[in-house]
Amino acid sequence: MTSGTKISSGSAGYVNPLRDPRDKRLPRIAGPCGLVIFGVTGDLSRKKLMPAIYDLANRGLLPPGFALTGFARRDWSTDDFGQIVYEAVRQHARTPFRQEVWDRLAEGFRFVEGSFDDDDAFDRLESTVRDLDRVRGTGGNHAFYLSIPPSAFPVVCKQLARSGLSAQDGEQWRRVVIEKPFGHDLQSARELNAIVDDVFPEDSVFRIDHYLGKETVQNVLAMRFANQLFEPIWNSHYVDHVQITMAEDIGLGGRAGYYDGIGAARDVIQNHLLQLLAFTAMEEPTSFSSDELRSEKIKVLNATKLVGPIDETTARGQYTGGWQGGQLVRGLKEEEGFDPNSRTETFAAITCEVETRRWAGVPFYLRTGKRLGRRVTEIAVIFKRAPHLPFDQTMTEELGQNAFVVRVQPDEGVTMRFGSKVPGSQMEVRDVTMDFGYGTAFTEASPEAYERLILDVLLGEPSLFPVNEEVERSWEILDPVIEHWQAAEEGPAPYPAGSWGPESAEKMLARTGRTWRRP
Ligand code: BG6
Repeated sequence: MTSGTKISSGSAGYVNPLRDPRDKRLPRIAGPCGLVIFGVTGDLSRKKLMPAIYDLANRGLLPPGFALTGFARRDWSTDDFGQIVYEAVRQHARTPFRQEVWDRLAEGFRFVEGSFDDDDAFDRLESTVRDLDRVRGTGGNHAFYLSIPPSAFPVVCKQLARSGLSAQDGEQWRRVVIEKPFGHDLQSARELNAIVDDVFPEDSVFRIDHYLGKETVQNVLAMRFANQLFEPIWNSHYVDHVQITMAEDIGLGGRAGYYDGIGAARDVIQNHLLQLLAFTAMEEPTSFSSDELRSEKIKVLNATKLVGPIDETTARGQYTGGWQGGQLVRGLKEEEGFDPNSRTETFAAITCEVETRRWAGVPFYLRTGKRLGRRVTEIAVIFKRAPHLPFDQTMTEELGQNAFVVRVQPDEGVTMRFGSKVPGSQMEVRDVTMDFGYGTAFTEASPEAYERLILDVLLGEPSLFPVNEEVERSWEILDPVIEHWQAAEEGPAPYPAGSWGPESAEKMLARTGRTWRRP
């Protein structure tokens, strides 16, 4: 190592001495550290976490001695574990496979067999981690990723405390990463937070909402606050309403254990969609420091209220069998593992208002669903009509409302819709769109959300992780809807796979003369 090179064990990460440290464009490389994954046999770990770790290594963003430890109740050797990671990487990694990167990464693999209530296993984990500090130079800095059901949080947190794994010593750090669901209502979220907070200080807790790791979501802030064009019209004087949609074409086969009894509102609206609302509606932070950013988000969530009456302003549905993309698919009740009488909603929509001067009276419609017409996530800001149209009415029959649409995924980009003259001798005006696409505007491919978020955990950069208060506030917004639905006699309305949800969703907007977009 050249003299002057500094490896920091704090949040700053590796600092390249040849570059100006104030230049924020420099790649940030994590300092010496290790990551332990609980729930290493799960889907998330194989499809997202392991590939993201390889992609980070491939991009040179992990420290040289980085260590990855798997913990699970499997009779595996470290080599068996390595094989599992290898298969996950070959199948799901974003960047090309490079043998030398893999070999270097694999040297840092360890596996500890055990169950969560097994004291010995956690003691073995503790000595593995200590050993890594010695042989890999991980410097006592370790993150624990709980990719496990929340019911297992208490026991794992207790074990981490008992075995001394959570103890932070001097400059060394210990962090915990938690995956949603953060509870199933306000009460359970508070209980969960209390358990985690007992063991880790709040600044060592990283709650993952992977939508915040998406480039297009971060771009909402860039578009809004780096330009002069949009902000002056980003308010109730000009905006008619906002539609935030996360539609998926996949069904829930194989996910009954997690999803049955949970449903679309808890799975997606409580976290991803309310976070998208917060990014869309928040005031400009004085800086992008994590405290400033989070405090603006909290203010918006505090001002966000449900619009009632709930029967009219929300909708829920459950998909039934049908044709989707040329394939005959099953309904939820026929999916493996689901209760044939399941009342779990696979489509949910709610209406909110943000009670601030900027947004008073502007409805925010949030919807999500499985087995819908196509996979698309977008934030659509729909503007009011021009107060006066100096044209013959027939000339503007095909003129809709102006719209600014952030295409979160797929086909990442932004669309603006406005009226334009149709070529010809008449002054006829029709809607046209102007597109910005990431694919054509930039040469670099966007990193996966989990790459960004895992790196941020290792760097100790908390901006993109919701705090306790955001999670609890989001439950407070949603709880009355879920309680109302649970108390209702009727279950969710059926909708055929491949459609855009139940009829009640259309009615919910029609009552104010609006319609959902068909992206
Ligand atoms: C998860 C939900 O948080 O997000 C899943 O639990 C959903 O139900 C997934 O399928 C969608 O993520 P993405 O990144 O594919 O939009």
